[in-house]
Amino acid sequence: MTTKQICFADRCFNFAFGEHILESIEDYIPRDEFDRYIVISDSGVPDSIVHHAAEYFGKLAPVHILRFQGGEEYKTLSTVTDLQEQAIALGANRRTAIVAVGGGLTGNVAGVAAGMMFRGIALIHVPTTFLAASDSVLSIKQAVNLTSGKNLVGFYYPPRFVFADTRILSESPPRQVKAGMCELVKNMLILENDNLEFTEDDLNSTNVYSPKQLETFINFCISAKMSVLSEDIYEKKKGLIFEYGHTIGHAIELAEQGGITHGEAIAVGMIYAAKIANRMNLLSEHDVSAHYWLLNKIGALQDIPLKSDPDSIFHYLNHDNKRGYLKLDEDNLGMILLNGVGKPAVYNQSLLTPVRKTLIKEVIREGL
Ligand SMILES: NC(=O)c1ccc[n+]([C@@H]2O[C@H](COP(=O)([O-])OP(=O)(O)OC[C@H]3O[C@@H](n4cnc5c(N)ncnc54)[C@H](O)[C@@H]3O)[C@@H](O)[C@H]2O)c1
Repeated sequence: MTTKQICFADRCFNFAFGEHILESIEDYIPRDEFDRYIVISDSGVPDSIVHHAAEYFGKLAPVHILRFQGGEEYKTLSTVTDLQEQAIALGANRRTAIVAVGGGLTGNVAGVAAGMMFRGIALIHVPTTFLAASDSVLSIKQAVNLTSGKNLVGFYYPPRFVFADTRILSESPPRQVKAGMCELVKNMLILENDNLEFTEDDLNSTNVYSPKQLETFINFCISAKMSVLSEDIYEKKKGLIFEYGHTIGHAIELAEQGGITHGEAIAVGMIYAAKIANRMNLLSEHDVSAHYWLLNKIGALQDIPLKSDPDSIFHYLNHDNKRGYLKLDEDNLGMILLNGVGKPAVYNQSLLTPVRKTLIKEVIREGL
């Protein structure tokens, strides 16, 4: 078991992770800290996990469970207000804690709900997907979707505690683990990671890992992400590096309309970003090969059910949520690129480099 203190500037919380960590929450949360816990979870999170989590919070104070319909189309303000009404009816007040038991989607819905109730009540994350445990809880961005796009309304709101049970994560579907591993490989590619506690040989394409291995990976992701985000809590400057692979990846994810996971889309997006950087003489062939090597190690580039045609990907490219950070003409798009593994390319003191749209199209048309 590992406990890390995570600080986004002066906003600090404990992140405890390891096998059966939920059995130890009494060691972290004083008994009189909260008057009740409202567990929020989407309908796709297995009942057994939700009840298991509720059981341990129930040892500290009364617990209520609220479920909502899963899926990105239900990650909305209307779902949030519905949950808030139910929480108030159950007696929620300023001393109540909201507990998000689920993946990044539940984390965001519960995060927005907690951040608005009484202008902010305690939020506790119990991430049940590897992506949530290694990526989304290491960000204080909370947002829900509008019909016009993903994550368009939200704010920054930190949790009070995070508890990630690596046994639960190790038993989750391998494709979900792979989604988180894609973000882990991203961290390996974008940062200079000295003293890695694992080697490339510890990665596998089945995406089945032991709780202990997942603990090591989460530890790495915490160090990687916090080495940047502790200084850039709003993820607008150096923190933009975590958007690597997301410009094209996000467009592919939207074009595929739910057919592939976010992680798979980012894996493809990173390959395209590497090829583009190579064509712009920023990245060597050797470093492009390093992208293929690492992503193939985790099976990220095999059997991706890509169906969308390049034109629909180009359509969604113009919706990139980083537009506006860089003033560019119609022919260019700002992308995060690398000069080498662990070396972000810098353009006019920004991590966004203008890239000709014609080059982006050319590379996407060529395929992987
Ligand atoms: N900064 C941030 O806040 C941030 C960062 C990354 C992603 N996100 C958001 O997170 C979401 C993606 O998160 P995700 O990849 O965790 O997916 P998810 O939360 O959508 O979960 C995927 C599916 O798995 C189910 N599930 C959850 N835990 C499970 C388990 N242990 N076993 C079996 N099924 C389980 C869920 O109910 C859901 O159906 C997106 O909405 C994205 O916008 C937010």
